[in-house]
Amino acid sequence: MDILCPICKNKLYKSERSYRCENGHNYDLSKEGYLNLNLRNSKNTGDNPEMIKARQRFLEKGYYAFLRDAVNEFLNEDDTLVDLACGEGYYTSAFKCHDKIGIDLSKSGLKIAAKNDKSTLYLLNSIFRDPLRDKCADKVVTIFAPIAEKEIVRILKDDGRFILVRPDVDHLFELKQLIYAEPYRNQAEDIIIEGLKREIQLRITQTAKVAKEDLQDLFMMTPYYNTTSPDDKAKLKEAEATDISFCFIIDIFKKG
Ligand SMILES: C[S@@+](CC[C@H](N)C(=O)[O-])C[C@H]1O[C@@H](n2cnc3c(N)ncnc32)[C@H](O)[C@@H]1O
Repeated sequence: MDILCPICKNKLYKSERSYRCENGHNYDLSKEGYLNLNLRNSKNTGDNPEMIKARQRFLEKGYYAFLRDAVNEFLNEDDTLVDLACGEGYYTSAFKCHDKIGIDLSKSGLKIAAKNDKSTLYLLNSIFRDPLRDKCADKVVTIFAPIAEKEIVRILKDDGRFILVRPDVDHLFELKQLIYAEPYRNQAEDIIIEGLKREIQLRITQTAKVAKEDLQDLFMMTPYYNTTSPDDKAKLKEAEATDISFCFIIDIFKKG
């Protein structure tokens, strides 16, 4: 897939350790191998190193491998794929497609992604303004991340598919029981995206015993970690290994 210059929108050509357009705008690859195309001084700098490390430690244990495999089932080797908000590339690196781009705003995420996975080009950029051509992707993937609706519709080929992964209602309920006096289930949301229609919805669940030392990392991956009181957070330190349900919704959208 072509990468476009964020300044003049012309195609970027690779030479050794940098990418350059015909107007002379030049972008160096980082030492790990990701390309920084984020010219804005945006407040959002993506997940911080602490969050990224926690997620990396947890995912490396294989708890979510079944989800990674399930998404791979919807991909083909000759697909062009864009993973929007790819984090440290746990899923991206395993996708079977030959032509892959991962985009995220977290430098610490992309350092890990680009260092470990040479099968993907990682771009430091907002997913709300992708440096990519219209209709370039057979598959666009978003896993536990904001949905950049307009950009997804723009970069998806006419016969392409958007794959969205999000938590289901019971996801991590037992983890919440360890922490909160009144644990609540996730809301069952219907996702509507203008320009796309849902083709398939799949719910997958697996329960695994999460080791004592992994509970904290798992909790840090959740959106409610930052809003939980120090007292409630401390409860997890006392907890023992616990059976926890991992429940996901995979939505496949096509254009229409
Ligand atoms: C919960 S993480 C999911 C990461 C990855 N998809 C996974 O499941 O392992 C959300 C990711 O979205 C990224 N992110 C949030 N807002 C973003 C934006 N506007 N542009 C690019 N990435 C963004 C964060 O840096 C983070 O890596």
